[in-house]
Amino acid sequence: MRTGSALALAEAPESKYEAIFNQASDAILAILPDGRIDAANHAAEEMTGYLRQELAGAAIDVLVPEPSKRLHRARPLTRELLSSPGTFEDIAILRKDGYVRFVDLNVRPVSSERHGLTIALFRDVTEKKSMERELITKHSELRNAYYQLEKKNAELQGMQEILVQSGKLAALGELAAGIAHELNQPLQGIRGYAQEIQSVVESGPEAAAALREIISNVDKMAGIIGYLRAFVRKSVEQYEWTDVHAAIEESLKMLSRQFAARGITVKRDFAGELPKIYANPLQLEQVFINLATNARDAIEAAGRGKGTISIITRFKGDFVEIDFGDDGCGMNERIKAKAFNPFFTTKEVGKGMGLGLSLSYGILSKLNGSIVVESELGKGAAFRIRIPRDFREMG
Ligand SMILES: Nc1ncnc2c1ncn2[C@@H]1O[C@H](COP(=O)(O)OP(=O)(O)OP(=O)(O)O)[C@@H](O)[C@H]1O
Ligand SMILES: [Mg+2]
Repeated sequence: MRTGSALALAEAPESKYEAIFNQASDAILAILPDGRIDAANHAAEEMTGYLRQELAGAAIDVLVPEPSKRLHRARPLTRELLSSPGTFEDIAILRKDGYVRFVDLNVRPVSSERHGLTIALFRDVTEKKSMERELITKHSELRNAYYQLEKKNAELQGMQEILVQSGKLAALGELAAGIAHELNQPLQGIRGYAQEIQSVVESGPEAAAALREIISNVDKMAGIIGYLRAFVRKSVEQYEWTDVHAAIEESLKMLSRQFAARGITVKRDFAGELPKIYANPLQLEQVFINLATNARDAIEAAGRGKGTISIITRFKGDFVEIDFGDDGCGMNERIKAKAFNPFFTTKEVGKGMGLGLSLSYGILSKLNGSIVVESELGKGAAFRIRIPRDFREMG
C-alpha cells in the first residue's frame, strides 16, 4: 500500500528524480514517521532481497535482525537508529532470505509540509567486513607461524650446540688417545729407572725422598693417562643389564666419608620399580661419581658448612630418568654454557681437570642417553639424565 509522500517517488515514474533515486548505487529507503517504508530504490531490493512492492508499506522491523543472529560485533538495525539523524557504521540488517548484511547507514530527515519523512542511505560493507575478518584470521595465523618458526629456530640452535659439543668430544677422543699413548711409554721408562736408582741409592734420606716424589708424580700422571684412556676406550666395554639404583648407591658409598665430613646429606626419592638398563655398570658409576664430586665441591664452595644432594629416579616412556640436584654454589650463565666442555674447570689447579662432565656426557651419549643442567648462581644445580632402557633398540 502506498501513501502519498512529499517526494511521491513511486507516483511520479516519469520523474527524472526517480531515475536518480533508482539508479543510485546505495540502497535508499524513505521512511514514514510511524516506521513504515514509504519507498525503496533498486539497490534496496538487491540489498534486502525484497521487491520494492513488498517493501513499500512494510514496517521497517522486517529488516531488524532477530537477537539470535551472529552479528560479528556489528550493531543491529533498530527503529531508534532510524529516527536519529547521523552516520552509523557497521549496522546489521536482515535480508528476506534470513542472511545478515552489514551496512554503513546514513539517516537524515527530509522536511516537508505534510510528513516528517526520513531518508535512510545504506552502503553495503559486508564484503569489506568479511575481508577484514579474513585479514584478522590471516594475521593471527601468520603470528602463529612466526612463533612456530621461532621455536624451531631455538630447537635448531640447541641441536647445533649439541653437534658442536659432540664434535669437540670426538676430536678430543682422538687427541687423548694419541697423547695417552705418547706419554705412557716414556713415563713407564722414567718410573722404571727411578725405582732402579731408589734401590741402589743409600746416600741419605734426601735422595730417597726425591725419588719417592718422582715416583708418586709419575703415578699421578699415569692416573691421568688412565682417565684419558677410559675416556676414549671403545673396546672392552662390558654391557649388561644394570641396576641404576645399585650403581648410584655404589658411587655414593665411595664418597660417604667425604660427605659426612662436610655435613652433606643425601635425599633419595627413588622409583618403586625401575627396570634395569642395558649399560656398562662401571661407566654408569663413573657418571654418578662425577656428579656427586661436583655436588660435593659446589656445596663446599657455597660455604655454609652443610648441604643436601637430592636424587630422584623415575621410569618414563622407556627411559630411566635421574634428577641429580644439589644446593651448592650453582653456576652463572657463562659457566653453565661451558660446563660440559672438555677441560673446562673453575677449580684451582690440581683440584679439577674439567673432564668429569664431558666424560659423563660421552658415556651417556654412547647409551643414546642425555644429560642437561639447570642452574642459577647461588641456587644450586640440577642435572637431568635420561637413558633408554636398551640403547640397542634405539635408532
Ligand atoms: N653441581 C655443580 N654446581 C656448580 N657448578 C658445577 C657443578 N658441576 C659442575 N660445575 C661446574 O662445571 C665445571 C666443570 O665440571 P667438571 O666435572 O667437568 O670438571 P671439574 O669438576 O672442574 O673437574 P674434574 O671433574 O675433572 O675433576 C666445574 O669446574 C664447575 O665450575
Ligand atoms: Mg667434576
